Amino acid sequence: MKQVFAITLLLFSIGCKKPITVVVPPLPVPLPEVPTGFDTLTNGFTTQVQHDADRAQFEEDAVLPQLGPAFNARSCFNCHTNPVSGGNSQVSEHRIGPDEPGDEIASAALIHDQSTDANTQQVAPFDALSALRMSTSLFGLAFVEQVSDADLLAIAKANGGQAIMVPVLESPGTKKVGRFGWKCQHATLLSFAGDADFNEKGVGNRLVKDPVNGIEDQQQGSTTGCTDPHCEDIDFYASFMRALKAPPRGPIDASVRQGEQVFDRIGCNSCHVDTLHTPTVQFHPYGDFLLHDIGTGDGVMQGQAPAKKVRTAALWGLRTRARLLHDGRAFDIPTAIKMHGREAHGARVAFKKLSPAGRVLLLRFLNSL
Ligand code: HEC
Ligand code: HEC
Repeated sequence: MKQVFAITLLLFSIGCKKPITVVVPPLPVPLPEVPTGFDTLTNGFTTQVQHDADRAQFEEDAVLPQLGPAFNARSCFNCHTNPVSGGNSQVSEHRIGPDEPGDEIASAALIHDQSTDANTQQVAPFDALSALRMSTSLFGLAFVEQVSDADLLAIAKANGGQAIMVPVLESPGTKKVGRFGWKCQHATLLSFAGDADFNEKGVGNRLVKDPVNGIEDQQQGSTTGCTDPHCEDIDFYASFMRALKAPPRGPIDASVRQGEQVFDRIGCNSCHVDTLHTPTVQFHPYGDFLLHDIGTGDGVMQGQAPAKKVRTAALWGLRTRARLLHDGRAFDIPTAIKMHGREAHGARVAFKKLSPAGRVLLLRFLNSL
């Protein structure tokens, strides 16, 4: 395992012939590694009994009246399922954005693809810009949530990524560096759960209200100021996600280790950062959770996230994903790499220049993630 004292990153940018060396925040001593595993066992954040109860809620299919009328799926599990509950899936969702600034569709809106009744079916207005977004895995995000803003800002400074401050829905008036979703639209798992409850299942909750239909999460009287840590469904979802482990690695042999050296040498690790840490543990997401323009952007502005930028895909768990990039347009790893341009131009060129043997090693490494 690589030390994290001073990780040297190679930063390539357009027209930049010589790699620039930058340094991510140093750790005084290596921290313990986080637990990993695609299983249904808690990472220790909650008891196993609580984790099982949380998972049941995450997997439970909603029925009327606690659904829709417009929705995407009946449960979180419908889209976060591979290889086990909380993982990724091939399900994509449909975002629409303004064609030009000042348009009526102010920011990225979500189209609900299903409906409880034909009259509430949503379709995109004819002049909207449409984009697809793949369902990502939730494994390991518990640890990403605890990375300090300072660390993310330091990485942004070093590699040219963009960090945006987003409102923390559960603490009105406070903001944190956004790190969840393809546009870094949320900073905490509870905020995302509130958003997903409404946007995916059509159910309002104390964080994200349903302005039209007034469908409300009806767990334990949330509106009366419940003090139980599991007030509403969204609390079960957040608790479930916070107890997920990080994705486990596949077998690591000598060629995989050599492949990682190739990955570092050609500058992939400037954005696909190998090690991040919380105050107490370290983990290896191979991502920086920041926005970049690598030429794949969907053109949809979302909050402060610019149209052309997308969050770096964290490469942990890559071997479990059959469709790559934010919209699933690439079906294999070399194709996804060849689609890197602009900020990642240097890395793509370096990939193309690899010898056949170097390429085999790099792919051995990537397939071990
Ligand atoms: C219809 C499919 C679908 C359903 C149902 C769904 N999700 Fe998701 N989920 C997605 C997609 C697609 C994304 C990426 C969205 C984006 O970035 O715009 C995502 C992203 C997320 C993220 C951010 C992950 C990351 O990589 O940063 C969290 C957290 C999340 N979902 C939680 C939930 C919870 C909790 C539920 C249940 C209330 C849920 N999702 C239901 C499709 C779904
Ligand atoms: C400047 C930042 C940057 C650099 C350098 C970079 N990437 Fe990426 N990478 C990204 C971003 C951003 C995405 C997501 C793009 C999207 O989804 O549209 C991505 C996506 C990927 C994906 C798709 C993963 C998935 O789950 O969808 C792979 C594979 C990948 N990168 C490998 C590499 C390799 C290998 C290198 C080095 C040759 C590299 N990247 C260099 C930013 C970078």
